Amino acid sequence: MEALFHINQPACIRCGRCVQICPSRLFAQEKQGGDIQVKDTASCIGCGHCVAACPRDAIEHKLFPREKVHPFSLKDYPTPEQMMLACKGRRSNRAFSKETVPMEALQQIVEAAHRAPTASNLQQVSFTVITDPQRLRQITEFTINVYRGVLKKLRNPLLKPLIKAAIPDAFRYMPVFERLSREYEKGNDLILRGATAVLLIHTPASCRFGIEDSNLAYQNGSLMAECLGVSQFYTGFVLSAVKQEKKGSLEKSLGIQGTIRAGMALGMPAFRFTKYIDKQEEGFVRYL
Ligand SMILES: Cc1cc2nc3c(=O)[nH]c(=O)nc-3n(C[C@H](O)[C@H](O)[C@H](O)COP(=O)(O)O)c2cc1C
Ligand code: SF4
Ligand code: SF4
Repeated sequence: MEALFHINQPACIRCGRCVQICPSRLFAQEKQGGDIQVKDTASCIGCGHCVAACPRDAIEHKLFPREKVHPFSLKDYPTPEQMMLACKGRRSNRAFSKETVPMEALQQIVEAAHRAPTASNLQQVSFTVITDPQRLRQITEFTINVYRGVLKKLRNPLLKPLIKAAIPDAFRYMPVFERLSREYEKGNDLILRGATAVLLIHTPASCRFGIEDSNLAYQNGSLMAECLGVSQFYTGFVLSAVKQEKKGSLEKSLGIQGTIRAGMALGMPAFRFTKYIDKQEEGFVRYL
């Protein structure tokens, strides 16, 4: 079988960067300035670090043909001050206008989310963007119906003591579920809150770090949304309903293969925050 990658020896200056950077240790250099040997290419996780680090484009890797490799200047990064300001200024803005989010902005948010790291570089995270008002309603209705089912169980006098013994804090969210359901009946959607788009982030059910991978993707996407002037909040109620229901009905109804792990409600802001507020400071960090 042809190797996944090899070194174009005449181009290589034997700087040893590939040896230092490869997480799978697939390059070796016996002595400084010496030739580079390539080992066991089948163990490559396809991260592209070697190709991105090589100063001479001397690594020919089947997964990374030239058109997939993009030089960039670190000078174009946001400054630390700009980055910190985006972290501080970023909020969950639920004051949406009726204006829809431009498709280009949704695509940029997905692209940023897709760039997040994944465990073992497995890249099993997929995205579904919903803008169809009927499908958005379907998400809210699914969530409300799951909570109504939960409420029914919690109110059942026969089940009550059993649930209390098995899950002591199961009743904590009862007033919240009751309020969500009541408000929905009155025409107030407290699940999506007038969002005009939802980004669902999902992975195959078997993905070992599916939750972590998806939530890292979420945060990339949400920072991008902030910089684009698009408002967003985390759809925790929807996620919680997906987890409670356990049948994968929402995934099936939306044609999603796998399990939803994170979700972002999106819309154009009625107005934007121009102040940031300090977070609780006490005991939040230790340096050892
Ligand atoms: C895991 C998680 C679940 C959340 N679920 C919801 C939700 O269902 N609805 C909502 O309006 N906000 C939700 N939020 C947003 C939080 O309420 C919000 O992040 C928090 O109040 C801090 O506000 P900030 O994001 O503006 O800093 C969720 C946030 C996280 C991290
Ligand atoms: S990083 Fe590139 S130039 Fe440097 S040793 Fe590896 S293959 Fe050669
Ligand atoms: S793509 Fe990543 S794992 Fe594969 S050889 Fe290059 S650095 Fe190593």
